[in-house]
Order: sequence, then structure tokens, then C-alpha cells
Amino acid sequence: LLLDGNPKPLLGRKAIVTSGPTHEPIDPVRYIANRSSGKQGHAIAAALAALGAEVTLVSGPVTIPDPLGVRTIHVERAEEMRDAVLAALPADIAVMVAAVADWRVASSAGEKIKKQPGEAPAPLHLVENPDILKTVGHHAMRPKLVCGFAAETQSVIENARKKLETKGADMIVANDVSAETGIMGGERNSVRVISRDGVDVWPDMPKGDVAEKLAEKIATYFATS
Ligand code: CTP
Ligand code: CA
Repeated sequence: LLLDGNPKPLLGRKAIVTSGPTHEPIDPVRYIANRSSGKQGHAIAAALAALGAEVTLVSGPVTIPDPLGVRTIHVERAEEMRDAVLAALPADIAVMVAAVADWRVASSAGEKIKKQPGEAPAPLHLVENPDILKTVGHHAMRPKLVCGFAAETQSVIENARKKLETKGADMIVANDVSAETGIMGGERNSVRVISRDGVDVWPDMPKGDVAEKLAEKIATYFATS
């Protein structure tokens, strides 16, 4: 009702969405990754575009197709994802859905690491990756609406609230990614949306429906502020 029957309430708005995992190379044939499929992030990019936004999707390595009507940039590593996101600024909306690897191998090997029979492997030296959401949330060209996700396995709301503050976000979509929920890689999602106004609890639904509801919430935000 707030959207007043307007089918394209985000017309003229630019949005940046990140999606999928990142791959952090160990050597030319091996990498560190996670279970993200990109389904939720890609669906959000498509849902924002359906409401009229001009969307740049920055996607890590996924097996699903690029959404129609969206400019998709493919990256592999977190640092590449950060660079692509910053290059897409300015924007009105940023929705950071990607499961960015928290760490990368300090210096990945140029050649395939060979096993040495009978010898323990050399430990991997990891360093922290840039926090893309936090960088965007505190950027001089900060989008008017910055939305992050929070992947948690415990104290979901409390941890999501902390992320809202530290990352400079307006909204955090929190989900419980405990193995038994099957959310990471699965077809459905059950989320709570945390903002300064409070917490919205959404029932379990397909990722496409979560995307549409979130896009509508974002459109409502622009219609009312
Ligand atoms: N994020 C990001 N860059 C990173 C890590 C996370 O942009 N290097 C973003 C994610 O896209 C998500 C939000 O930050 O929108 C929260 O990600 P999450 O993994 O839940 O939180 P972290 O801050 O990485 O903390 P932790 O994994 O320790 O819970
Ligand atoms: Ca993380």
C-alpha cells in the first residue's frame, strides 16, 4: 500500500549486490571456499531489478546463471570483490549477501604444492580479508541504504545487532546457518530483519520470496524517508 500500486518504485535508483562465496587460492589448483550457492543474492539482484532498480551484481564463483536484466561482474577472491564493489559506486542501495571468505592465504603458491611422502604438510598462513560491507558502510560515497546479511549459528539477533553497528549498516538480514537448517546451498530461507526500528521475523519461505519481500522493504524505505 505504501508503494501505491507503483510497479517500478525503484526506477532511477542504482543498486549494488554481492552474492556467492569467494575462492581464496592456496596454489594454482586449490582454494578455500564455503557452501554459499549464490541463490539468495542472485534472487535479490533480480527482485531489485524487477522493481525498476539499475542493478550491478558482483558474484563470486557460482554454478547458477546470471539473473536477467542485471549487470553481473564475476570475481573470484574477496579483494577482487571489494574492488568491483567500490568501482560500482556511487549507488543508492548496497545489499551485501556474499559469503566472503574471512581469511585468505597470505601468499598463495605460484606452483602446485607437492606432497612430501611421510612429511607433515606446511601449515597455511592465513590473513584477514577486507570487510566489504564495513568498507561500504563507512565510505565517503556511502549508499543511502546499506543492507548486510549475518550468517550465524548461535545468538542470532544479538550478533546481528552488533554487525548493524560495527559495519555501519541500516539493515541486517540474519539467518541461522547451522548445518541442520540446510540454508547454505538450500532452496529456502528463514530470516529475521534487524534495523534500528526493531526486528521483523519472517516465516520460512523460498529464497525467491525472501528476495521479493526484501526488495519491497527497500522500496518502502525509499518511499518513506
Ligand atoms: N562481509 C563482507 N566482507 C567480509 C566479511 C563479511 O562484506 N570480509 C559481509 C557479508 O556479505 C555479510 C556481512 O558482512 O553481509 C556479515 O557477514 P558474516 O560472515 O555474517 O560476518 P563477519 O563480519 O564476517 O563475522 P563472523 O563471520 O565472524 O560472524
Ligand atoms: Ca564471516
